Amino acid sequence: MDIYERVHEYLNRLGLSVTEQIMDNYLETAKNKPFMEIFDHLLEQEVKNLKSKKVEMKLNYSGLPFRKTLETFDFSFQPSIERKVIDDLMTMRFIHNKENVVFLGPPGVGKTHLSVALGMQAAFSDISIYYITAVKLVQILRKDFLSSKLSYRLATYARFPLMIVDEIGYLPLTREESNLFFQFVSSRYEKHSTIYTSNKSFSEWGEVLGDSVMASAVLDRILHHCSVVNIRGESFRLKERKKLGNTNISEMK
Ligand SMILES: Nc1ncnc2c1ncn2[C@@H]1O[C@H](COP(=O)(O)OP(=O)(O)OP(=O)(O)O)[C@@H](O)[C@H]1O
Ligand SMILES: [Mg+2]
Repeated sequence: MDIYERVHEYLNRLGLSVTEQIMDNYLETAKNKPFMEIFDHLLEQEVKNLKSKKVEMKLNYSGLPFRKTLETFDFSFQPSIERKVIDDLMTMRFIHNKENVVFLGPPGVGKTHLSVALGMQAAFSDISIYYITAVKLVQILRKDFLSSKLSYRLATYARFPLMIVDEIGYLPLTREESNLFFQFVSSRYEKHSTIYTSNKSFSEWGEVLGDSVMASAVLDRILHHCSVVNIRGESFRLKERKKLGNTNISEMK
């Protein structure tokens, strides 16, 4: 085996597939460059590739319902949102400080979109994330509780420095479900960040959780270290329907 073949073989064995693919062409163009510069360039491409693979894995595992970033979010359509607050959240400082975020507002105003954008930024920053709807969360917790695996599940969730619990309030919870939701909130309190979204104002959470004492205990923990983004505006979905000339709500169902 000559040296050329051996180098390719070594690169393959070490899993340095990017270097293996680009090396021949790059060496042609970089003939006069110092060795260190060549080495630096090849390793840089390898590290970039590794990073994007890790991000892709995190996103695949995240459960995010779609992939959207702030780039496609039209702030001019939703003037009640302070851009400064969202930009500050995008620095990911809230995750390092183990703080929460709550997006409140009626349907279609961008609560899930903004949560997903923050989740994606976290994944880009090498932070593990997990998205789940409130309904799904309590279903899972209930099943785990019945099979004595609740603490195991909460410990699994604790591996995520950021969780997104979407759509609190679309379905009222039973007493048992509220209790399990409380345990989830408690388990993350001051330890890990969580983004919560809801179409209900905090004063209505008593109805959602079926018990005002339970709602106070939950909100007390969520809001202790928290940014609340209250979105007051029109549905973006409705705007898109209007553009298409269809404003009949019953036809939208
Ligand atoms: N300001 C905006 N700019 C661009 N797209 C937007 C904006 N607001 C919402 N959207 C888009 O409109 C759709 C609905 O938004 P989203 O799912 O975030 O709403 P939501 O507040 O979570 O509503 P729901 O309470 O019904 O779940 C999505 O496709 C989202 O990307
Ligand atoms: Mg939503």
